[in-house]
Amino acid sequence: MDKIKIIGGKPLFGKVFISGAKNTALPIICASLLTDEPVTIQNIPFLSDIKSLNALLLQLGTKIEEKSEERNGHLTQTITYHTPQPTSLVAPYDYVRKMRASYYVLGPLLTKYRHVELSLPGGCAIGARPMDIHLSSLEQMGAKIEIKNGYVVADVDGRLQGAHVAFHSASVGATCNILMAAALAEGTTVIENAAKEPEIADLIDILNKMGAQIEGANTSTLTIHGVEKLHGVTHEIINDRIEAGSYAVAAAITHGRVELVNAPAQFLQTPLDILRKTGATIEMTDNGFIVDAQNAKLVGQDVFTDYYPGFPTDLQAQFMALMCVSEGAAMITESIWENRFMHVPELMRMGANINVHGHASAIVRGVEKLSAAPVMSTDLRASFALILAGLVAEGETIVNRVYHLDRGYEHLEEKFKAIGADIERIKIPD
Ligand code: EPZ
Repeated sequence: MDKIKIIGGKPLFGKVFISGAKNTALPIICASLLTDEPVTIQNIPFLSDIKSLNALLLQLGTKIEEKSEERNGHLTQTITYHTPQPTSLVAPYDYVRKMRASYYVLGPLLTKYRHVELSLPGGCAIGARPMDIHLSSLEQMGAKIEIKNGYVVADVDGRLQGAHVAFHSASVGATCNILMAAALAEGTTVIENAAKEPEIADLIDILNKMGAQIEGANTSTLTIHGVEKLHGVTHEIINDRIEAGSYAVAAAITHGRVELVNAPAQFLQTPLDILRKTGATIEMTDNGFIVDAQNAKLVGQDVFTDYYPGFPTDLQAQFMALMCVSEGAAMITESIWENRFMHVPELMRMGANINVHGHASAIVRGVEKLSAAPVMSTDLRASFALILAGLVAEGETIVNRVYHLDRGYEHLEEKFKAIGADIERIKIPD
């Protein structure tokens, strides 16, 4: 339950090194369960979500070897996962409760070992987060699924069978789970209305390197010709577009100039367009981009979250913080999650002028100044939005429940300090 203290008012200048993508690392780590050979994954971020998933894999019987190495100019993590034979096919409540992406073991364990028991993750701060698409697609592939004592218990006689599945929502999680399940199924699976987020293309890339036969990367129709066996590989995961977008807002909101090294600008077109319209200048570099807002008059812009390549829901809270101190009114519409405005009351405690309409829309009217306050993190991205507000508020902001940030932002205070922020972690003993 550490806290973060920020004294606002300093423009940020310098370089931030963007880390490997959390939401790519999580499914790719689970893809290692599809082979009994070692899989080495490079560029894994140092995050508590990765530690939580590693703990789950250890209890399934995976051997894990971690090493830190300098790559692309900063310290990264390379981890080898090796599961010759799992010692358990159960993902228990205590693991899944901590980290819902633990559900990525479902597809791999079922398709390779024909049985899996997964504690149902349940809802979380941002929404109900159902798993109906994952489960109904696996059933169409021949799995028998029961919900018992809070667990999904899934079995299949022989191999899963290829099927034509059409998703009612372009779910990232279901696309990953069904891709992994279909890779070792018998016959061909077609996924209609698959997610097109860059994380999916990276998963397809490693699966194909492991011997899978998947066509259609970056489109909403994926065709997977099942194979009998996959083999070990070494794979470097892509960099984190959401981390890059978050620091891009930090540069803009403080009227600074920050270079985001290794930032995947190609995956950020929609948010960068909005940032430009807000008044910041974006300069591309060989390996990232620079956000410059030193002389910018920030003007509020509407934001509508959508599936990729639309505006990412995982940057909605950060852009809302920016609009709080931009001139004029901005309408923020959240179309992916039903409850992702938990940061609004906290921003309002700092003086923001926000009116929420129903569950999906909020009007933000820019104010000249925010004032510091103790605030409460509710989820990962909301927490970053509060840090952003703290960076421009007058006085000392304390952000409570920092464990949310540790799940998804590597070395946050160090990265902010390196660009001149007055930020410090207050350690609270357990
Ligand atoms: C992933 O969650 C990300 N998490 C989320 O990031 C991100 O917000 C989300 O995708 C959307 O981009 C990880 O990658 C670990 P979905 P996921 O399945 O896969 C509905 C962060 O901050 N749906 O794409 O769980 C669902 O209710 C996190 O890093 C069903 O109806 O999201 C939602 O409306 C938060 N039935 C929509 O689909 C299902 O079976 C998208 O959800 C599955 C999903």
